[in-house]
Amino acid sequence: MKKSLIVGILTLFIGVLHVNASSKVDEQTGLIIAPGFEEVKTNCTVCHSAKFITLQRGDKASWLSMIRWMQKTQGLWEFDKPLEETILTYLATNYPPGKASRRPNLKHTALPPNPYEKP
Ligand code: HEC
Repeated sequence: MKKSLIVGILTLFIGVLHVNASSKVDEQTGLIIAPGFEEVKTNCTVCHSAKFITLQRGDKASWLSMIRWMQKTQGLWEFDKPLEETILTYLATNYPPGKASRRPNLKHTALPPNPYEKP
């Protein structure tokens, strides 16, 4: 009885450690360290804080629409296909829809024109 309790607590403890280990976060940016992290850190924290990313959620299509929007209106550069795929996979895997406390983002096409944008 006592032994199984101890084993139970140990298992729980190891489980908690494991969860922590599996979502290691970069101290500098707050981005989850996972495949694609370097590419995202290099390309996506130049103009704004990584908080823009870590507070956002989306599947590949909605991340892609955000990237396209930044490319069209904010001066974000083009990525070659493999790099774009790496970035999208990282984003959709680590910041997927449904894990957020807020509602999913509206598609940019559903939003009114940005009043701060130059004509
Ligand atoms: C060339 C500059 C630039 C780069 C590089 C850049 N962004 Fe942005 N991004 C912006 C600007 C400007 C905004 C809008 C800022 C604002 O609304 O105040 C923005 C906004 C965002 C938002 C918020 C959008 C929303 O609807 O809430 C996200 C998420 C985002 N960027 C992710 C990324 C990702 C991912 C990358 C890398 C692929 C990236 N950004 C690279 C300029 C950039």
